[in-house]
Amino acid sequence: MPTISTSSPTYAIVDLSALTHNLTQLRRLLSPGCEVMAVIKANAYGHGAIEVARSLIAQGVARIAVVSLDEGIAIRSAGITVPVVLLGPLFPDQLHDIIAHRLTPVISDRASLPMLTQATTSLATPYPIHLKVETGMGRLGLAADELLRLIDSGQLPASLRIEGVMTHFSDSDGPETGQTEEQLARFQSIVNSLTTRGLSIPLIHAANSGAAVRYPRAHYSMIRPGIMLYGYHTLPESISAPDLKPVLSLRSCIAQMRAIPAGCPVSYNGTFVAKRPTRVAVLPIGYADGFNRRLSNRGEVLVRGQRAKVIGLVCMDMVMIDVTEIPDASVGDEVILIGRQGTDQITAADLAKWTGTIAYETLCAIGPRIPRRYQNS
Ligand SMILES: Cc1ncc(COP(=O)(O)O)c(C=O)c1O
Repeated sequence: MPTISTSSPTYAIVDLSALTHNLTQLRRLLSPGCEVMAVIKANAYGHGAIEVARSLIAQGVARIAVVSLDEGIAIRSAGITVPVVLLGPLFPDQLHDIIAHRLTPVISDRASLPMLTQATTSLATPYPIHLKVETGMGRLGLAADELLRLIDSGQLPASLRIEGVMTHFSDSDGPETGQTEEQLARFQSIVNSLTTRGLSIPLIHAANSGAAVRYPRAHYSMIRPGIMLYGYHTLPESISAPDLKPVLSLRSCIAQMRAIPAGCPVSYNGTFVAKRPTRVAVLPIGYADGFNRRLSNRGEVLVRGQRAKVIGLVCMDMVMIDVTEIPDASVGDEVILIGRQGTDQITAADLAKWTGTIAYETLCAIGPRIPRRYQNS
């Protein structure tokens, strides 16, 4: 088993060929002309927004979405010039920077319009915006009648150009289809009303990953996937999901070893007490790095191709594992927290299950102390 020679003993490998594979899988579902707007918010779900954006753009993705102004500025500061849609709510004091960085705002309430109008009046060409309609997510968006009134009243100034109309599904990965069907029907009715008014809007978009797989009717002119690009999904088992490859693996190493007798406690508060003579390995990763504290006495990792259990409470910067059954385990050994080793694999979905959450959160939680190393760019 290789020992690690790297400046940081704990790091993530981001396999960009797996990202490309997942993009290809999603594209196979689409009709010709349907675009992919890659959702790379939250540091591309923990994978590194800039590198992921560059890689996807190299594969022909022409548009990306983030949530916040800061995320958008980071993309522009890296020299990325493709259109960037800001999915999050708008704040008046951010409008100047949004425009200065050519970020495309999503208008999800009327209150932001006067300010945006003021900020764009002196521009030479109309500024692109997307309008978001609330169809059942209960989060951001104009009510359907509000959106139509806005258009009919002529209150949208000439300085703004509706480039997109969108909605967001709350249950595209749920066991029942009713909620998504209803949202889709409401959205379709808006799209019909816009068409009746003779409005031609280039980008109509609704589908996140789950809906992209499950509801081809929701593809419209563009899909908006996040999680599936990174190799995961939360679809019910009855739905056949695309063949996805996890993009990120999380690796550490054994920093120290200790042999303890039966009766000896490990970590804070003595929640683990050895029942037998035990070989304990200390790993340099903790909850501050996103290795969730709920993995205490529950999680598993891979050492020399075998599973080892987390023992005691996960600390801020360290965690202990039981390697009694892996006699050759020694200082410097590679430890897989997410990823494959030998014939076994631990996924972010496994960690999510052990911690009562979803792979989305497990991936996003991988902290800034963990260097991301990019492979197969
Ligand atoms: C508005 C919006 N669109 C698309 C996505 C991507 O969703 P998913 O990661 O499920 O594909 C998200 C993520 O939460 C979102 O908030």
